[in-house]
Amino acid sequence: MSSIKPNSIKNIHKLSIAPMMDCTDRHFRMIMRKISSKALLYTEMVVAQSLIYTNEKEKFLDFNDEEHPISIQFGGDNPTILKEAAKMAQDWGYDEINFNVGCPSPRVCSGNFGASLMKEPEKVARCIESLKNSCNLPVTIKHRIGVDKDDSFMNLNNFVRHVANAGADRFTIHARKAILKGLNPKQNRTIPPLKYDLVKKLKNLNPELLIEINGGFTNINQSIEALSDFDGVMIGRSIYKHPLRWSEIDQKVYGINTKSKSASDIIFSLIPYIEDHLTNGGKSWDICKHLINLVEGIPKAKIWRNQISIKSIKKELDINYLRKLTSKLKEMGY
Ligand SMILES: Cc1cc2nc3c(=O)[nH]c(=O)nc-3n(C[C@H](O)[C@H](O)[C@H](O)COP(=O)(O)O)c2cc1C
Repeated sequence: MSSIKPNSIKNIHKLSIAPMMDCTDRHFRMIMRKISSKALLYTEMVVAQSLIYTNEKEKFLDFNDEEHPISIQFGGDNPTILKEAAKMAQDWGYDEINFNVGCPSPRVCSGNFGASLMKEPEKVARCIESLKNSCNLPVTIKHRIGVDKDDSFMNLNNFVRHVANAGADRFTIHARKAILKGLNPKQNRTIPPLKYDLVKKLKNLNPELLIEINGGFTNINQSIEALSDFDGVMIGRSIYKHPLRWSEIDQKVYGINTKSKSASDIIFSLIPYIEDHLTNGGKSWDICKHLINLVEGIPKAKIWRNQISIKSIKKELDINYLRKLTSKLKEMGY
């Protein structure tokens, strides 16, 4: 097999926050940026075709300057359309483009993209080439260890090497296979077993490739341990549901000498952002639906969450009320 092209990523992101539909919108990403100044953030998956044809490009593409470094994830299977999408991503100021070959959703796979594309390495290679040739951004890929019966190590290795030859700069591998018929997306995140060893074998066989591991990480120490085998680690559900569990990423993963933030520190630091959002006609729930996960392990956390949720759903939550609640949190030491 031919040797792999050198990749163009200079900045190795040790830890990233997974793309998650309906979760990693720009508001959640701002919350995460207050928690870690360094972690790589991802958008939710943007279907390249929808982006090209919509008149509301800002809705898909806008992000806050503070969110850097940020990667936009594209779904698609048409190199010509992906080319246009890549140009837009570059013009909009993204730091990286990620290509989704891991989503098992029937809706996504019926458009023949997402995880089903793992069965077509040649097509994936053409998509990666097209993305690479139309912009100067690093182009990375997120995929599974296999799909349906195509789950041998040889298949995985061939897929990765083929795509690396097309120019992929980093591989984020969700260490379970996807079962396209019979399991829904949620089951596809729990039922197929995690096989970190297979990804480790892949890394050992291809040490020149940047490989980020994903799937099932629930705390910082476990993630740091994984960094001795892999170039990076991507965290999804745990960071969404328990953001404060991850409040020491900067210190422990990146070695930055800074004070770790409490829930109230984070909320206070977001107040100007929330104020701006409300002034521009946004709803408080857009942000508060993510914010409530910060309130965990606190006495009467449920009451606090309910207060925020009810007020913001009823559109009665204003900044003064949020300040008052957050001050109470601070007084309690959180
Ligand atoms: C609600 C939800 C939405 C997701 N949406 C996407 C997506 O848009 N693109 C993608 O590549 N993966 C998506 N994923 C998969 C995650 O990125 C990640 O690979 C998976 O959750 C395993 O990581 P974890 O065990 O740390 O959660 C999603 C996961 C969840 C829970």
